[in-house]
Parts: sequence; structure tokens; C-alpha cells
Amino acid sequence: MRIAVPREIKPQEGRVALLPPQVASLCASGHSVIVETGAGLNAEASDQDFLDAGAEIAGSADSVFDAGELIVKVKEFLPQEYRLLRREHTVLTNLHSAANPEQLDRLLEVGLVAIAAEDTHQFGSPNCALAGEVGAFEGVRMVLACHGGTGRHFMRHFGAAPATALVMGLGSVGRAALRTLLGLGMRVIGLDISAGARKEATLNWHDRGFQADPIETLPGHLPDADLVINCVLWDKRRTDHLLSRDMLRLMKPRAAIVDISCDPAGAVETCKATSWQDPIYQVDGIRHFCVDNIPGAVPVTASAGYAEALLPKVALIAEYGAMEACRRDTWLARGLTAVAGTLTLEEAARVQNRAYTPVNQLLAAV
Ligand SMILES: NC(=O)c1ccc[n+]([C@@H]2O[C@H](COP(=O)([O-])OP(=O)(O)OC[C@H]3O[C@@H](n4cnc5c(N)ncnc54)[C@H](O)[C@@H]3O)[C@@H](O)[C@H]2O)c1
Repeated sequence: MRIAVPREIKPQEGRVALLPPQVASLCASGHSVIVETGAGLNAEASDQDFLDAGAEIAGSADSVFDAGELIVKVKEFLPQEYRLLRREHTVLTNLHSAANPEQLDRLLEVGLVAIAAEDTHQFGSPNCALAGEVGAFEGVRMVLACHGGTGRHFMRHFGAAPATALVMGLGSVGRAALRTLLGLGMRVIGLDISAGARKEATLNWHDRGFQADPIETLPGHLPDADLVINCVLWDKRRTDHLLSRDMLRLMKPRAAIVDISCDPAGAVETCKATSWQDPIYQVDGIRHFCVDNIPGAVPVTASAGYAEALLPKVALIAEYGAMEACRRDTWLARGLTAVAGTLTLEEAARVQNRAYTPVNQLLAAV
């Protein structure tokens, strides 16, 4: 199969979907890999590295999309990429279709096979750890007075208490945020709806100034917080919020919110997605950091994790074609979003009130 790796064009997005070791492995299995020129530059992979691994280099987005049957990417498609999509393509990338109806319209209209990479990770997305760690790191910077923060040090010194962070959601991303915050010495209160998640975090960090409480206690903790980090996996159909706009007045005026989950008007009512080019905005005086591609800040590390996680999926699709690959790998099938104009992703169907065909039904029929 001809596998194409375009260059990511989202601002400040330096990740690449496959690196030379994965390219070499696919080429050794008899597949061709076409990489857009410069795609790996920010991930420490040059065109020459890809050539040495057996890839061809394409000089433009047009030529890489033209050459590929399977398009493997990191981020969703931006509008300027829509014209490059063709019915013959299978695309594997982080689509986030429930939050992106315009892109979904286009995928359905073109009639290609679309697979959401974010739903295919059996053992958690490699991006989650990086998003939690780097997002928390940016939050720590926002606590510094020179960046508009409350001016508390992240470590305890001279009898002054360290800065306090609230971490909402103690899953993969939240646990990663704890690693940064507690590693630096901050006081952290973790909030989660799940008693199991609270218990696990407490067992890991009981000796480090960590406390876990039910999510309902959030309003009572807000006045003490220098930083609030949201890592809740939010049901996109919900219209309520955990941290509503009127709760911002409970916060210290120089406190900050880092919304790593980044669901627009989701768990944090005042969240709207931002980019690394312009990451912070204010609502009612409270600074919000809501970058939706946080791991893009560490492209060398993030590409290594993503490419390694994607290789078995790419190899399976290349070997058997998308439909048979989904029949053989239930985790790949979970990401199946669109097939020849039929929507198969239940979450997007429910959020956007669209008709859909369950994946198993479709796989049995084709
Ligand atoms: N901004 C980025 O670059 C970026 C990168 C990776 C992941 N994310 C996002 O981070 C979010 C979290 O991902 P994850 O892998 O940690 O998910 P996860 O499923 O591992 O953890 C989510 C946690 O949220 C908790 N939770 C769910 N509903 C809750 C509620 N109502 N109140 C309190 N807690 C609740 C769950 O109990 C769980 O512990 C996702 O939305 C993901 O898309 C963002």
C-alpha cells in the first residue's frame, strides 16, 4: 500500500505521524511511504533520514495526498486541506469529529474511510502524559508574578506555603499533571467523580502534600487556588459545567486556569480552544490557557510516542485494507468514523444529532 505522511500545518505543530524507524519497518514489509518535504524537521527527522529509511519525498501537500492511499497524520484536517481529500483515501489521524462538524461534513461528502486515531489506543494515548506534564508546566509559569500570577513559589521556602493547584480529573492526563506539580513541590488537591481514581492518586502521592476530594467540593477549594487545571473527560453532549462562569469570582484575581481537556464551553464554561501562537485569554480577569495541541510543544518526544503507537495500526491497514483491519483489531474499529459517506462514530452522531450506522453492523455488511 502507498502510505502518505503530510507535513502538519496547524500553527506551532511540529509533530510528524511516522518517523524513520516506522518507515523502515513498513518499507521492509513491501509498502511504499511518501513523506512531504520538511514534515519531520521539528521532530529531528530530516528528508535525508526518511530517504535513508526507504521513503520517497514529495515536494508539496498536493503531491503527497495525490500519491497516498493511506494518509497518516497527527492533527485534524484544516479547511485548506479539505480539497486534497479523495474518495479513494483512508485517513488515520486525530479527528475529534464530535467537536468538528464542518470537517465531518467534508469527510462524509468525499466518501473516504476515516479513522480517528485518538480512539484506537488500547493502553491510553501517548499524548496524554505529555499534555498533562507540559500543560501543568505552563500552569506553573502562569503562577509566577512576572506572568500575571499570584506570585507564590512552587516550592515551600522561608515558612511561606507553596502555590496551590486544583487538578480536576485524575485520569491519564490528570495523573501526568500531578507528576509535574507534585514533583516541583506544589500543594495539590485532586478532584474526581471516581472514588477509585481518588484512591489511586492518594496512594501514589500521600507523602507529597496531595489531597483528593470529590468533585462536588470544587467551589469550596477555588478561593485558595493559585492554579486550576482541568483534565476531566467530559461527555460532549452535556450542557452543564463543573466550573461555571459565575464561579470565576470565587477565585483569586491573579489565579489562572489551564484547561487541558479543552472542551469549548464544557467542564469549564469559559473554555475556548487556543493555539500555542496565542495561548492565553482572560474572562472576568481570570487568565485561561486552553491550547488544544499541547504535545505539539514537544514534537521530538511526542512524535516518537505517536509513531510507535500508530505503527501496528498502519501496518494492519496496509496489509489488509481498512475494513478487514478493523475486523481484526477491535481497537482500530473503535476509531472508525466514516465509510463511503456513512457515519459510524456514535459520539459524533449523538452530539450533532446525525444518523449513524454502528461499526459492527457496517463491518458485517461490507
Ligand atoms: N489539550 C491537549 O493537547 C490534550 C491532549 C491529550 C488529551 N487531552 C484531553 O484530556 C482529557 C482527559 O483525558 P484522559 O486520557 O486523562 O481521560 P481519562 O479517561 O483517563 O480520565 C478522565 C478522568 O475524568 C474523570 N471524570 C469524568 N467525569 C467527571 C466529572 N463529571 N467530574 C469529575 N471527574 C470526572 C474520570 O473519573 C477520570 O478519572 C480528554 O478530554 C482528552 O481529549 C487534551
